[in-house]
Amino acid sequence: MRRRDPRSAGVGLRLPHLAEVAATRPLAAWFEVHPENFLANPHAFELLQDIARDCPISVHTVGVSIGSAGGIDRTHLRRVRKLVDSLDPFLLSGHLAWSTHAGEYLNDLLPLPYDEETLQLVIRHVDEVQQGLGRAYLVENPSSYVGFASSTMTEVEFLCELVHRSGCRLLCDVSNILLSGHNMGFDAYAYIDALPAHAIGEVHLGGFAAEDDEGNSGGTLLVDTHSTTIAEPVWHLYAHAVRRFGLQPTLIEWDNELPALATILEEAVMADHMAAYALERRRQHASAC
Ligand SMILES: [Fe+2]
Repeated sequence: MRRRDPRSAGVGLRLPHLAEVAATRPLAAWFEVHPENFLANPHAFELLQDIARDCPISVHTVGVSIGSAGGIDRTHLRRVRKLVDSLDPFLLSGHLAWSTHAGEYLNDLLPLPYDEETLQLVIRHVDEVQQGLGRAYLVENPSSYVGFASSTMTEVEFLCELVHRSGCRLLCDVSNILLSGHNMGFDAYAYIDALPAHAIGEVHLGGFAAEDDEGNSGGTLLVDTHSTTIAEPVWHLYAHAVRRFGLQPTLIEWDNELPALATILEEAVMADHMAAYALERRRQHASAC
């Protein structure tokens, strides 16, 4: 029987499922919400506040943009702070990316060059966001499709240095690692092995799609669509991550082509089984040594 427990896998709560969740209270371990969906929708926010009274909530920002050279939008940060204070989430997170420029909000999470200048910018912004929101902010590894010739570090080296210098913690998106490894030509297992295990505070799992790579004839690009079930290779990589990081709050991300909520909840049950299996294997391995 599933319980409301952040140690079990949670699911994304998106607006099309909000009224159903408010009315039926399905037994999800916890829900993750994007605050930007609720800032201009007082009725939806009322329903969310009601749900938050008996279910743990994680807040995942999509518009805070810690990689923007123009700085953090403090007005947006204050609005998110009000929502966060009201919900008192057990986790708060956002992406290593940029999505705003000169007051314009772009609909994408755009990549950063991994160099010293970017590192110092992101360290300043993570600190500003943590101060502004009044709590720890987990930084999520992005899904990558292109890189910068000017980068002087790999993505995982950049994240390790960010943790080392800022003291922040990370959200490890296992699907992003798998698809970025395919797109950018790195070993996803080695990436997980290189992450600082003590700093991992949450895990994401999401569906992706294979598309023709226009820049590479005959090649495929894996795209982070969040529109389908978790692929088999991601489950294997997740088991590896659980063995390395221990049991962490794990989220099933499903944002597009939303199925019935029950389908997403089934994926969360699968994540619980996979995590339990991985931990048992780790325990057996340790006792055999
Ligand atoms: Fe994610």
